[in-house]
Amino acid sequence: MINVGVLGFGTVGSGVVEVIETNGKKIGKRIGEPLNVKYILDYKDFKGTPVENKIVHEFKTILEDPEIQIVVEVLGGIEPAYTYVKKSLLAGKSVVTSNKALVAAHGAELLSIAKDNNINFLFEASVGGGIPIIRALNTSLTADEIEEIDGILNGTTNYMLTKMEEDNAEYEDVLKEAQEKGYAERNPEADVMGYDACRKIAILSSLISGHQVDFEDIYCEGITEITKTDIDYAKKLGYKIKLVAVSKRHFGNHLHAIVAPFMVGKENPIFHVDGVMNAVVVRGNMLGDAMFYGAGAGKLPTASAVVGDIVDEAKNLHNNVMPMWKEETLILDDYASMRRKFFVRVKGTWEAMSKDLKDYFGKDIEPVFLDGRDDEFGFITPIIMEGDYETRSKVFKDVILNRIRVEFYD
Ligand code: HSE
Repeated sequence: MINVGVLGFGTVGSGVVEVIETNGKKIGKRIGEPLNVKYILDYKDFKGTPVENKIVHEFKTILEDPEIQIVVEVLGGIEPAYTYVKKSLLAGKSVVTSNKALVAAHGAELLSIAKDNNINFLFEASVGGGIPIIRALNTSLTADEIEEIDGILNGTTNYMLTKMEEDNAEYEDVLKEAQEKGYAERNPEADVMGYDACRKIAILSSLISGHQVDFEDIYCEGITEITKTDIDYAKKLGYKIKLVAVSKRHFGNHLHAIVAPFMVGKENPIFHVDGVMNAVVVRGNMLGDAMFYGAGAGKLPTASAVVGDIVDEAKNLHNNVMPMWKEETLILDDYASMRRKFFVRVKGTWEAMSKDLKDYFGKDIEPVFLDGRDDEFGFITPIIMEGDYETRSKVFKDVILNRIRVEFYD
């Protein structure tokens, strides 16, 4: 029997227990022996529920029980998760986590401890919820050099942008609705500011580069400045606005990474990813493009990925299977040197401003107008560097209403 201790009986923790209860027989067959949740660490007692007898309040109980071979950390946040995970690994217990904050901050160190102890630290559920992207990168795609990963890695913002587009609604109204439906937190900052997607693309960037990529180094812009009018322009141009996370390799191990709203067109597979769904497009130098699509959050999809990792660890109790990344931080290429096209919205009339705009952004720029609006217009720049855009746009800072990158992930 494989005995597991689950740290935290919140949404994901209860999902893990449910997945094991529902599919336990099949899972046991796949492992070759039964899988048993022996303990659940939580500060609540859950009296009168089926898990009542498994609840413990002291982490020590799990740490010091030699029967526990696998610890499942689904507490979230850095502490006490980091301390518990590190202690578990040092005690020779494999660990599964769904905690992206922990992996993004301490992944390299925890992977290294697991390797030294010939056990495993797995975290499939930390990126893309139920989508098997990390295992795919580590197993199926090992023949390739991964050149680029683009993804919609946050379900909350994808839901909000989809709603704004479909219902012709403003950001604030859609946020309120997402909060009412439980898709957005009461404090929505991590999602709407792009931080959640940023941690996830940092983890994927660390995996493909083999070095620690700090999420603080990734240029990150959320969706808070996107308005209904921006979406109207996007529609007119045949685009959708999506919060895209990109990690792109340049010349060897140089990476460009960004999280920001982009206008994407129909030919881009992520154009079709709507609502709370996530998608990750991986470009390999042999494979070409492959897209992984599915539920990026939610109790059972996330728990499914966690239990998949438990199965992997149970089958590899004393065999380290996870590639490591080095603790030395990879210096990302300067964001100002990334090349882009920008959609720019300008207050005023094209007649009055076209000459000046053409002087700065090129003679080929064309205006885009919204029906019934004669007080503003938009245009798309040619491909220019982010830094150049910043410099040139300063001249027009009093009349530029917004600017959104247009798909060209350099
Ligand atoms: N808030 C996250 C999302 C949950 O919306 O995708 C999963 O990390």
